[in-house]
Amino acid sequence: MSLKKLIAVATAAALAVSLAACSTGGGATTESEGSVGISMPTRSLERWINDGEGLKALLEDAGYQADLQYADDKSDMQISQIQNQIASGVDILVVAAIDGELLAPVLEDAAEQGITVIAYDRLINGTENVDYYATFDNYKVGQLQGQFIEEQLGLADGAGPFNLEPFAGSPDDNNARFFFAGAWDVLLPYVESGQLVVPSGKSPASNDDWASIGILGWKSDSAQAELDNRIASFYAGGEKIDVVLSPNDSLAQGIAASLSSAGYTPGVDWPILTGQDGDKASVVNILDGKQSMTVWKDTRVLGEVVFGFIEAILAGEEPEINDTETYNNGVKVVPSFLITPEVVVKDSVQEKLIDSGFLKASDVGL
Ligand code: BGC
Repeated sequence: MSLKKLIAVATAAALAVSLAACSTGGGATTESEGSVGISMPTRSLERWINDGEGLKALLEDAGYQADLQYADDKSDMQISQIQNQIASGVDILVVAAIDGELLAPVLEDAAEQGITVIAYDRLINGTENVDYYATFDNYKVGQLQGQFIEEQLGLADGAGPFNLEPFAGSPDDNNARFFFAGAWDVLLPYVESGQLVVPSGKSPASNDDWASIGILGWKSDSAQAELDNRIASFYAGGEKIDVVLSPNDSLAQGIAASLSSAGYTPGVDWPILTGQDGDKASVVNILDGKQSMTVWKDTRVLGEVVFGFIEAILAGEEPEINDTETYNNGVKVVPSFLITPEVVVKDSVQEKLIDSGFLKASDVGL
């Protein structure tokens, strides 16, 4: 344990004693010792707003100090926000990296100050100064998307050929390779057997080529423009797309917009379309038949896991982890806690997303 953390723990203990001594029935205090810097990528995606505000609320309700920053998907802004948090003396940094390759220098500074670093949802690469990683099982996310397509089309029974257009996530996001690998391990054998055909030719020959079809910054507009181009160039003769592999909801929303403008009709010839996150706009699309599924990641659970990490770290204990093999950041395998994601389709929106309180019925027009 660093000197700084020792002092923090000792101070917390002293505070607890003095509070106990002067508690003459005046009610419990909620002041806890510890301050946390939370660095999130962007407010432009619903999930990061929920993630950041959810974790901040958990910390503040427990009496910790929390500083929450969003970096507008700009790495230099994220780095300077983290620098400020280090300068302000946080004990712990929780970082959802914009570009997981660029944070090593600033985390070197954090390490010098004895700050514990938790990678949130996205791994931070190329540095030993990342202590823990909390995420959903990213490979599983892609696998659920691939298996959904396999089942819907009856691929295991030999059905086909079907026209597939695959997409991948942002090349600077370490998660995107896992999402793609999970899906492609299921789907590539069917591409090779000819049951799935990719008319655009945008079909990575192996998992390692995923970035060739990546959409930078996970932008809906870019996904829309990309599918517009593929449709104009490769479907001009009236061929139809049967299925689109989309790694997340923000891309799926752009893809759905492109399909609509190309004249596809829900319930008639709308392709199977995957997603991830349970964004409101995508859930509306699911209810309207414009998206087939989303891989739901209950960000409240991720917040609870990270909160548990923080409590353990501030108490000088080891946080609970459940994976010590999967996430090698190029310098070390980062001790991780992986949460299992789950599929939501039209029929399970009510039970999984609304009844659980993740979304309000009115958010999605129910
Ligand atoms: C997250 C996804 C999200 C994507 C775009 C990924 O790192 O795991 O949940 O859809 O970033 O923000």
